[in-house]
Amino acid sequence: MAEKTLSGDVYYPTEEVINHANANCEELYSSAENDYEGFWAKEAENLLWFDKWDKVLDDSNKPFFKWFINGKTNICYNCLDVHLNTPHRNKLALIWEGENGDFRTYSYFALHREVNKFANVLKSLGIQKGERVTIYMGRVPELAIAMLACARIGAIHSVVYGGFSVEALHERIDDSQSKVLITADGAYQRGKIVELKKISDEALQRAATVESVVVVKRTGHEINMEPGRDMWYHDLMALPIANNSHNVEIMDAEDPLFLLYTSGTTGKPKAILHVHGGYMVGIYSTLKYVFDIHEDDRFWCAADPGWITGHSYIVYGPLLNGATSFMYEGAPTFPYPSRWWQMIEKYGINILYTAPTAIRGLMRYGEAWPNRHDLSSLRLLGTVGEPINPEAWRWYYKVIGGERCPIMDTWWQTETGMFMITPMPCVPLKPGSGTKPFPGLKVDILDEEGNPVKPNEEGFLVIKTPWPAMLRTIWNDPDRYIEQYWGKYPGMYLTGDSAKRDEDGYYWIIGRVDDVLKVSGYRLGTAEIESALVSHPAVAEAAAIGLPHEVKGNAIHAYVILRTGHSKSDKLIEELRQHVGHEMGPIAKPEHIEIVDSLPKTRSGKIMRRVLKAKALGVDPGNISTLAE
Ligand code: WT7
Repeated sequence: MAEKTLSGDVYYPTEEVINHANANCEELYSSAENDYEGFWAKEAENLLWFDKWDKVLDDSNKPFFKWFINGKTNICYNCLDVHLNTPHRNKLALIWEGENGDFRTYSYFALHREVNKFANVLKSLGIQKGERVTIYMGRVPELAIAMLACARIGAIHSVVYGGFSVEALHERIDDSQSKVLITADGAYQRGKIVELKKISDEALQRAATVESVVVVKRTGHEINMEPGRDMWYHDLMALPIANNSHNVEIMDAEDPLFLLYTSGTTGKPKAILHVHGGYMVGIYSTLKYVFDIHEDDRFWCAADPGWITGHSYIVYGPLLNGATSFMYEGAPTFPYPSRWWQMIEKYGINILYTAPTAIRGLMRYGEAWPNRHDLSSLRLLGTVGEPINPEAWRWYYKVIGGERCPIMDTWWQTETGMFMITPMPCVPLKPGSGTKPFPGLKVDILDEEGNPVKPNEEGFLVIKTPWPAMLRTIWNDPDRYIEQYWGKYPGMYLTGDSAKRDEDGYYWIIGRVDDVLKVSGYRLGTAEIESALVSHPAVAEAAAIGLPHEVKGNAIHAYVILRTGHSKSDKLIEELRQHVGHEMGPIAKPEHIEIVDSLPKTRSGKIMRRVLKAKALGVDPGNISTLAE
């Protein structure tokens, strides 16, 4: 066991945790350190390749890195087919519980069958390799089936989070030029129905590329079905064309797998592009080592498949590892704050991976709710999405993990595809720190000029080594890819986060340094919220900022200048909130909207959100020499 020499509040791994771990992590660190490409090659060899790669990494055209050159594979084949001739065939791949108590399970055999059938359906709708399919659903098994079926035929999926609304969906369909939209009649959330089909219909009035809409029946309530365009999923799956045999599309390692839209510094959300080969290897290995996945594990990533966390660690990662993934449709507190704990007991969940905002939200209801349930199946815990405050960490550790489960605080991004700064079970933990980079990764914290900062000083977090699951580009915008991620410090990937490193080399993420907000762990751009506000006829100009919030981490506050002819009223403010909800989704609704006569701007007309934030918090705004007035 490691010598207990670290400073601060440290939780050393127990013998039990270390002995159980599926790898010796000191060895992983040193082997990746000694031969980085060799480390990843060895990992890739655990997966199936129709043709082996000639070269692990091609960095001849930086920053467009390529991995597993000329390797041929298919991530769906590795998630499903490879398990069929093993004892995994009849093992559960997916367990699902609906918010209303509905329940379904899929063995690897059954999931493979459903995916094959749906792959044939997509083919019959005319979808070909390289074409885009938008998926807009709640958390239901068909979402995973649709993603895997796209991967199987080489189509590029673009999942839009089911909590987004009309304009957010329209924008993403339009930018990706999707021919097919897969959605559902609705989704259950907090006992209510989210009108996914109605929102889709409205979005499709604004988007021209979609030819067919496949609708999963989830709630059974009345919806509009457009003749000639809309088809029920279950009807299509009952057609002879939807048979169980499908030859998988052989994909180059660098062929696109999916687009996932995320918020950046300016303007519209951008589509991050991930590929079949490197992404597959990266998430397979990170999940295996960080969450110590074993044969009989039931793994619950409580995120939404509409975000990268769900892509990598609800759908693809667990299946690549032959584990059982658990998916829950609804809200954590519905109908009671014990819902999660009840399901952990009922399904014998071994690993729970969630976000600080969920932990803080559940913590408010007190210990009695979790204490009424047997949570002894849990072995490991995880957190992601924003820095976890030590108080929430300790509650999670003590009340949920029974002081026996280490907490993997995984720092990563949509762009990174996989965990980047993260402990492994054998790493001593410090509440609030993601500990160290994953084996082989070189990470640094730099000042404005590009010099590494001293211990405990804040700076820009950068990544200095390429990694297999890295984004390949921004769809349709390679210049923005270069500029946004590789422009500030040549040769280094800019994360957009600020961080500190302590005297033990442990990393502490502070937060975003750009105009990106993390609200309840969701990533939103101030620009998107502002453009939703400005699309309302009463609004001339808008500025959005994030202010600290006890449960959400950040809450959205917006400042609005009205057009002439409109006057301030509580009714209008509420209407503006609803409007943002309708255009963007409930998560983007500002907590507070203030109507103002002017906004602080630079002389070049850029809104100084930093000044608004300082004013709202009653602190010194710092350097305001560029302020126009
Ligand atoms: C941003 C990326 C892929 C994970 C889900 C979010 C913040 C993420 C942590 C963590 C502190 C974190 C960062 C990052 N973040 N994980 N463990 N500790 N901050 O992916 O939506 O692309 O957001 O989330 O600010 O840049 P995302």
